[in-house]
Amino acid sequence: MIVVKSKHQSNFENDYIFDLILSFSKDYKVVTTEEFLNLDKDTQVRSKILIVYSPGDKKIFSEVDNFIKNISGKYSLIHLSDETLTDPLDHYEDADIILRSYFNPKIKYSNCFTIPVGFQNGYQDSVKHHLEKKYIWSFLGQIYSTRKNMLNNMSYFKPSFLHITEKFMSGKSIPSLEAKKIYKDTIFAPCPFGFINPDTFRVMEVLESGCIPIVKKMLFVDYNKYIFGDHPFIVINDWNKINKTIDYYISNPIELEKKQKEVSEWYEVFKIELSKDIENIFSNNIKNLKSRQFSYQKQKSLNLIRSVIFYYWFDLKKKYYFVKIQKKLKNIKNILKVYKFLFFQKTNFFRNFLLSPENFDFLSGLSKNNNSDLVDLLKNIQNLENSRLNYYSTKPFNSQKKREEIISSILISYKPSTIVETGTFLGSTTEYFSNYCPKVKSVEISQLYYLVSLARLEKYENVELINDESSSFLTKMEFNDEKYFFYLDSHWDEYLPLKAELEQILNLKNFIVCIDDFKVEDEQNWGFDTYGDIELSIDNFKLLKDKPIYFPSYSLSSETGGKKGSIFLSSEGSAEEVLKSQKNLKKYN
Ligand SMILES: C[S@@+](CC[C@H](N)C(=O)[O-])C[C@H]1O[C@@H](n2cnc3c(N)ncnc32)[C@H](O)[C@@H]1O
Repeated sequence: MIVVKSKHQSNFENDYIFDLILSFSKDYKVVTTEEFLNLDKDTQVRSKILIVYSPGDKKIFSEVDNFIKNISGKYSLIHLSDETLTDPLDHYEDADIILRSYFNPKIKYSNCFTIPVGFQNGYQDSVKHHLEKKYIWSFLGQIYSTRKNMLNNMSYFKPSFLHITEKFMSGKSIPSLEAKKIYKDTIFAPCPFGFINPDTFRVMEVLESGCIPIVKKMLFVDYNKYIFGDHPFIVINDWNKINKTIDYYISNPIELEKKQKEVSEWYEVFKIELSKDIENIFSNNIKNLKSRQFSYQKQKSLNLIRSVIFYYWFDLKKKYYFVKIQKKLKNIKNILKVYKFLFFQKTNFFRNFLLSPENFDFLSGLSKNNNSDLVDLLKNIQNLENSRLNYYSTKPFNSQKKREEIISSILISYKPSTIVETGTFLGSTTEYFSNYCPKVKSVEISQLYYLVSLARLEKYENVELINDESSSFLTKMEFNDEKYFFYLDSHWDEYLPLKAELEQILNLKNFIVCIDDFKVEDEQNWGFDTYGDIELSIDNFKLLKDKPIYFPSYSLSSETGGKKGSIFLSSEGSAEEVLKSQKNLKKYN
């Protein structure tokens, strides 16, 4: 057999294709289309041709299309990468055998069989897995759509390993060998859908490493049975339901061990049967296939329901493109907003500076009190590294690791429906909040910082930035009885909105507040702010005293970054219970 690949075809599935799918054939040769056509005519005619290709890529499609027109004999196909089920199927009609990844019930060719998308190079593993693991769960990859909800639900369970990347195979991805080590030390691996399709490389990658995959149904259908047959994965309808299942296994070590063994043993058999069946398929012996997924794929009885669900699901991809276009339009709108500000807004420093240098006099007369952002920019225009804009690299919460730990623990147990931050500045803390809540609102008085943050955070769909004065924004906000988390940090210049902010918040039914830069009532030297004569302390904000108050209880030396003080308060009841359960906070009143 000669395996033919386009010169544009990627190689990252090679281990999977050659070592597993084609393992039955010992004497195949891999060539490019060009190399094949340079072989002598006799070899060309006598050889069985297997084309491995991703025809969704136009360059690959036309190269393979030309190739097929130039050969005289039959060919078989391994069709990869059709995640959205929209690739052209022009070459199926004349093919001998077709193996494809991603199940598409609309394809009726009896010689077409769906195989898993497989794993990327480097994940293959033949070593027996140990059952003692370091992490309850691990996830390495991108976070989009329902994956946020998945993480929110999984984050209850510690220890875990989480590595978020922005793109598939981005430079920041953990290399496969290292990722494999992490998975090998992991019990459960949530395997969410790709952008649209439930099958992803992750499923077999984690199976190779001995994890238990957790997969979600596609509407009411367990898509994985069309790929893996009668598999033992954990299948859920909704990521919100995962806690109960994991709790069950964590508290029943015997059941957990049973499940781990069941998955590993099943997977070994699955691979053996799959490669045997592929051998049978290529020998035209398709009557005796053992892999259940192939009979599910050909099943006639449930065809209608299944087709309706598939149609509905993959039709959503149109909606997905629609959503993508909407997102692009939003990006363009934000960019135009920034341009408009830079070039057309008459009161804008940049525009005035560019158009009329005399205006410099006006600018230098700006008061630090009401234009501190522009004054800072102007003063450092020659070297922005010295300006406040350089704080973009500051980590959330003034780079205070301990504070971050407390707030993440509060957010995980409190699960607010909305987080409100006052004082966005350059959005570092806002970005952090975006991982913890479906709705994050952050208000910033400076138009400059608002625009910088808008550009930095435009990719976070759950973040809304508002250019307004914080207390006036809170007056306009419509609150209800849901849970709110407030991070009050809009203090810098002369006007201190804290009292006005608190007046809007303290009457709410369910809230937790953290105020940054607040004087901690203990013997340690926490930093805190003073405005004029007013220091941010309990004595100056008596209205706080009616609510349960908590201060950091840990040693200042274990804090990093700005080492600023903070105060936490809440409504009574369940919100207070959350503060009470924090080991790094102590009650004040
Ligand atoms: C200390 S910074 C906020 C830092 C940010 N929360 C973080 O953690 O990265 C304070 C911000 O509050 C803004 N600010 C000051 N007074 C404000 C007000 N009354 N309303 C809204 N924002 C205000 C300032 O312009 C500044 O960007």
